[in-house]
Amino acid sequence: MNFTSDNASGIAPEIMAAIARANEGAAASYGDDEITKRLTHRFSEIFEHEVAVFPVVTGTAANALALAAFTPPHGAVFCHAHAHLNVDECGAPEMFTAGAKLLSVEGAMGKMTPQTLHDALGHLFPGLVHHIQAATLSLTQATEMGTVYRLDEIAELAAVAHERGLAVHMDGARLANAVVSLGRPPAEITWKAGVDVLSFGATKNGALAAEAVVFFDPARAADFIFRRKRSGHLVSKMRFLSAQLEAYLDDDLWLRLAAHANAMATRLAEGLRRIPGGKVHYPVEANEVFVRLPLTRLRKLWLNGASFHPWPVEGDSEEEQSARLVTSFATRVEDIDRLLALAGD
Ligand SMILES: Cc1ncc(COP(=O)(O)O)c(C=O)c1O
Repeated sequence: MNFTSDNASGIAPEIMAAIARANEGAAASYGDDEITKRLTHRFSEIFEHEVAVFPVVTGTAANALALAAFTPPHGAVFCHAHAHLNVDECGAPEMFTAGAKLLSVEGAMGKMTPQTLHDALGHLFPGLVHHIQAATLSLTQATEMGTVYRLDEIAELAAVAHERGLAVHMDGARLANAVVSLGRPPAEITWKAGVDVLSFGATKNGALAAEAVVFFDPARAADFIFRRKRSGHLVSKMRFLSAQLEAYLDDDLWLRLAAHANAMATRLAEGLRRIPGGKVHYPVEANEVFVRLPLTRLRKLWLNGASFHPWPVEGDSEEEQSARLVTSFATRVEDIDRLLALAGD
């Protein structure tokens, strides 16, 4: 009953098998291998657009490097107040941009709105030498609150950003969960809606450690090979990262894994809503559930071996507290049903 995070789960068997296959014999290093060469074509097919693709090992690196490609040291990155890159990346975006400033934008349920973005942009005057210059917008999809930006929401936010000359980055650590949730082709919710660069996640959804920075205009990736090398993410045995990504995309594995994770979260949320005193905070649109429960019930779950993080939410009290539960491709129905039985007992 581990609901701490989707990265607490192991590796999808198909991806493990691909790593083992890539382990046969020697191959060119630093991305000159055949598997890595195939990736650009594969991603271009998936996104129905010519792309430039750069595998890296962590989501933090993907975000920080992608932002650095579009944001000068005197630039500003606009992101949601709760964005992972704002609160959980230890200043990596600031470091890799050589000092750009992250400016947080408010918005309910993990989503900024065109108005809150517009208001935040209003504080910076383009060209004024005393002000940092607005450079990038970063959207997290699915959001840190388990909600998903709809197509029109992405397009409207991107339009506000582009109008002011900002590039649009998407933190897609959980992109697969969002694609499944929206039921739209990946192209529609990324570049067709105005996204310029994507952190494409795989680790949380079944890879060992593989993410990719995807540029929808390869011309803007001209110096990215150097940025990645300087960051220490030009992995010498790149074929093993690429093998993970290739297997992840094959036969829609990424979408099948995410569909399971999302379905498990829905089942969990439905059950939690039925628990006396249970309140699910946000719409459950991907694979995360935020719930308030009587502390007695939370304690009972912890004492019986369920693991998940306490997650304070405004309105909590000493008797009723909130927690975050995350499902994954490997979550078992039995674990959910056991947790619900314990919580409801
Ligand atoms: C939305 C989001 N983006 C990026 C990351 C970063 O991933 P990593 O831990 O691989 O650096 C995470 C990890 O929790 C995340 O939730």
